[in-house]
Amino acid sequence: MKIAFFSTQPYDKIFFDRLNVSHRFTIDYYETHLGPHIAHTVKNTETVCVFVNDKLNAEVIETLSNNGVKIIALRCAGFNNVDIEAAKRYGIKVCRVPAYSPEAVAEHTVAMLLTMNRKIHKAYNRVREQNFSLNGLLGSNLAGKTVGVIGTGKIGKAFIRIMLGFGCKIWAHDIYPDNSLTEQGVQYVSSEQVLKEADILSLHCPLTPENHYLINRQTINLMKTGVVLLNTSRGGLINTVDIIEGLKTKQIGALCIDVYEQEEKLFFRDLSSNIIQDDNIQRLMSFPNVLITAHQAFFTEEALKEIAEITLENIAKISTEQMDDNSPSMLT
Ligand code: NAI
Repeated sequence: MKIAFFSTQPYDKIFFDRLNVSHRFTIDYYETHLGPHIAHTVKNTETVCVFVNDKLNAEVIETLSNNGVKIIALRCAGFNNVDIEAAKRYGIKVCRVPAYSPEAVAEHTVAMLLTMNRKIHKAYNRVREQNFSLNGLLGSNLAGKTVGVIGTGKIGKAFIRIMLGFGCKIWAHDIYPDNSLTEQGVQYVSSEQVLKEADILSLHCPLTPENHYLINRQTINLMKTGVVLLNTSRGGLINTVDIIEGLKTKQIGALCIDVYEQEEKLFFRDLSSNIIQDDNIQRLMSFPNVLITAHQAFFTEEALKEIAEITLENIAKISTEQMDDNSPSMLT
């Protein structure tokens, strides 16, 4: 069986080829994103394998269906980039990797927080220049701080476990609170209360039409002055123009993001010789209290192995009709 594999990076090929030995699928790797510009070229394959920035809107799904595609296999957890209703209409099975090392994302979130809070990125450069001064590197303790968490699913929980270890208080909001966390001292409150109380605020909910621009001018104004905001979830949770304003007024004390609402035009590529046309990311990169990584939080050995393993297993099970429709991997 053939798989058309989009947005391929060299490391994808290494992990998928290694784990495909037992499945023996024919995988055609393409570097390009899957989107309206290319969907018509997908032919003679029942399966497409896609990642976070491939755009599978209703038009793309119709084209894929007309060309015989029966399975869309997401090799990620989030699925905001696929029109699930359209896939259902065309009878296309959509699967994803619901959990691959939530610790990978949680640990990256903490790495960003510690880097920013203790100014490790500045210290690293300084010491290399033989500048051993501490001026400007003052940090603050995490112990005793109130950490607000929006979304306490797999990644949110892993993040909370680490932050409890630092001695932080956790105020959380989720549309489905988790009692096991309450037993560990996590307080569930409204999202408004989380925003008001947090010294550090971390987003771990999926992007949905309801929470698009969850962080905007109004909600920023609710936050404590100097709040540290972390987003390793999805870029669309934050209104970039409003966050720039919040940074300029110093309402936002620091911003650490691994995701960006216009990231599909930038991330996963080397643009070091290009003129970046996106003025918002350029403005963000100019702040001394903004740390950006390019959708890297998932990027560990363990996570890549699990992604390849589960994606290929999903495809094998669907194509042999052995997949349980209630499996957390299945979206349609
Ligand atoms: P999950 O499904 O285990 O947890 C998400 C939680 O968010 C659930 O408990 C759900 O009830 C809650 N939720 C949904 N809508 C909400 C809302 N409006 N307000 C508050 N809570 C809400 O998902 P998981 O595995 O924890 O992943 C979370 C997100 O992390 C993914 O949707 C994805 O966008 C992002 N992610 C980012 C990665 C990266 O490399 N930066 C890698 C993997 C996931």
